[in-house]
Amino acid sequence: MERNLHQQFIPIIARLFKQRTGQVLNDDRIWRIDRAIETVVRQRGLGHSADLMTLLTEPDAASVEQDLVEALLNNETYFFRDRPALEKIANQFLPQLAQAKSATRQLTIWSAGCSTGQEALSLAILLHEHAAQWHGWTIRIVATDVSQNAIATARRGVYTKFEIQRGLGVGQMLEHFTETPDGWKASDALHRSIRFSVQNLLEGPPAGEKFDLVLCRNLLLYFDDATKRVAFQHLAAGMAPHALLLLGGGETVLDPSLGFASTASDCSLYRLNSGNHWTKSAAA
Ligand SMILES: C[S@@+](CC[C@H](N)C(=O)[O-])C[C@H]1O[C@@H](n2cnc3c(N)ncnc32)[C@H](O)[C@@H]1O
Repeated sequence: MERNLHQQFIPIIARLFKQRTGQVLNDDRIWRIDRAIETVVRQRGLGHSADLMTLLTEPDAASVEQDLVEALLNNETYFFRDRPALEKIANQFLPQLAQAKSATRQLTIWSAGCSTGQEALSLAILLHEHAAQWHGWTIRIVATDVSQNAIATARRGVYTKFEIQRGLGVGQMLEHFTETPDGWKASDALHRSIRFSVQNLLEGPPAGEKFDLVLCRNLLLYFDDATKRVAFQHLAAGMAPHALLLLGGGETVLDPSLGFASTASDCSLYRLNSGNHWTKSAAA
């Protein structure tokens, strides 16, 4: 009986998830729905999944829908994920940018799909490690994610020892984090340079900004082609003409009509083609 009810609600929940996040749950990931249902049933202290299904049919289903979406999102992340790509950015791209922007001394970075903040904090740590180069600069990192839970964690900036050890060396841990009763807390200096906010990439880039560097990593994988187009349009609209886009290891811009050109085959780095249609239309 419960099983049949599950089967009935699976397409409804998959559709809800796609509407809210753009993420597609193909057959090989449909098991995530069962797991999300179990999570929300437990979180809400419900007896059975049938109780959850009943809540979903009520007029004020918004908060249970949100719980399900949160439980379905894959927030997997860790510090310095793809360290070679980040170091390439810090050692090659950012020094070039520093020259190009020496008149304004302002640097802006967007981490789109930042999850619980490790990606943005890794960048902040790298910039801190090159502090002499950035002396006198205003550096801002804007980090966005559709997940309210992930952004709440990122704003707290407190990580378990396990999370800290995934990617950070002992020296970086001791320099940038302080042990508290709740876990390891990121220093104010790091946290001050990052603004975390809840934002769906499919609704556009952060308002009124043109970023010098955009990271969108391990998020596009589960978008269908039409949704990827919208995402690339919004990423381009958030980029300054000279900006770089860093995608995740398995992610590429295959379609030249999207207006990006690859800079290096080894690490998913893209520039905007001159005359990129999307930046123009966003600026207009
Ligand atoms: C697998 S995590 C990757 C985190 C980080 N970028 C990294 O590579 O370590 C993907 C993140 O994208 C977020 N996400 C999924 N769909 C999104 C959307 N439409 N807009 C913004 N964030 C989204 C998820 O909530 C999740 O935190």
